[in-house]
Amino acid sequence: KKILILNGPNLNRLGKREPNIYGSETLADLQASLEKLASQLACEIAFKQSNHEGEIIDLIHKAEDREYAGLIINPGAFTHYSYAIRDAIASVSLPTIEVHISNVHAREPFRHQSVISPVTIGQIVGLGTKGYKLALLSLVKEDF
Ligand code: DQA
Repeated sequence: KKILILNGPNLNRLGKREPNIYGSETLADLQASLEKLASQLACEIAFKQSNHEGEIIDLIHKAEDREYAGLIINPGAFTHYSYAIRDAIASVSLPTIEVHISNVHAREPFRHQSVISPVTIGQIVGLGTKGYKLALLSLVKEDF
């Protein structure tokens, strides 16, 4: 199984960006730990980040053509208002899990709404970067 892990805007700054909220782990650290888990699970991951809405949409469309078995997405702030990313997920048949590192519900009111969640299997929030691992386990292991 191949799973696409997609990170949205500002997540390239993980580790430096508001470490009190997002922790000190960098995006490269996260990628390495997910690659390790993927090899333990005998699956393949592609790990991508983009600050651009259109590029994220293109990557979602291409994921279907490239026969990924699922999508894990942290859309960053696009979560709260990008109908275009929501429609892109709805336009493909990829089981999708939404991940947020921080507990968005304990933060500013604008972060409480996700326009993405209705087109996903589910959402994992507030568990730090462990959320990505849980999402990968859930997509790859049927009996998890
Ligand atoms: C985030 C939460 C969003 O509200 C924020 O804009 C981000 C990161 C998270 O992972 O906690 O960029 O998606």
